[in-house]
Amino acid sequence: MTIVAVFNQKGGVGKTTTALNLAAAMARGRQTVYGIDLDPQAHLSAIAGVTAGSGDETILSLFQRDRPLRELVRPTASNIHIVPAHLELSKVDTMFGKGYNVVNRLNTSLRTEKFLDGSARVVVDCCPMIGVLSLNAIFAADCVLVPVAADHLSYKGALQIEKTLKALEPVLKRRVRRRYLLTRFDPGRRVERDVQRMLEEHFGDEVCRTQIRESVSLAESPAYNKNVFEHAPNSRGAQDYAALLDELQAERFIG
Ligand SMILES: Nc1ncnc2c1ncn2[C@@H]1O[C@H](COP(=O)(O)OP(=O)(O)O)[C@@H](O)[C@H]1O
Ligand SMILES: [Mg+2]
Repeated sequence: MTIVAVFNQKGGVGKTTTALNLAAAMARGRQTVYGIDLDPQAHLSAIAGVTAGSGDETILSLFQRDRPLRELVRPTASNIHIVPAHLELSKVDTMFGKGYNVVNRLNTSLRTEKFLDGSARVVVDCCPMIGVLSLNAIFAADCVLVPVAADHLSYKGALQIEKTLKALEPVLKRRVRRRYLLTRFDPGRRVERDVQRMLEEHFGDEVCRTQIRESVSLAESPAYNKNVFEHAPNSRGAQDYAALLDELQAERFIG
């Protein structure tokens, strides 16, 4: 099993787009893919066509009632199995505090579920803040993928994430494997090329060689409740996410 957390404390940088389309790229192969929505805004769930009337049938139940993930997984047309989120998930931070057992809850659950075999792939979509939910994703993750939009504030945000991950190392007793991914990239704009250069200078090999370019197909596909491979299989967006999966697999970042 490989667990990838898609995390950035900044909103609107392409986390959900990346979680969805990376999972979709995996599902095109033989892989069984699970998408876990850890954002109370539930965008991943909604785009995948999974809605939940209450928090009970969602990942909230894992925290609130210790419900096993196998009872929460929902199949979707695109062959990605989704564990949905709900607005009530925002309660988790105030309800439970940040004790080790709480932030390790998803990890324990994923690692003990028998239906998740060795070849399963799990992609976790995070919310834009560091709290109980994102910590759960980071604790469970074999690797963290950080989407970074190519502007100066996003670059500063990436430096902050580096600090956060470093601060977690003594607790996790390991260095979190990570990759920074340029998203919404327009190589025709000088400021974006500058940010790309700064990222590469600072993070070196931890920056993905693949960039996700700004594209209409990626902006449009959520409106049709589709991932980019269903909506526009020959588009730039589909090419970019297929290339990203190839790169991550070639580097054994994803097993
Ligand atoms: N490469 C891209 N090209 C065009 N639009 C994009 C791209 N990536 C994301 N978007 C759009 O930008 C907005 C924010 O993306 P989203 O994935 O929801 O970010 P986050 O989950 O980080 O908040 C969405 O409307 C999404 O459709
Ligand atoms: Mg999102």
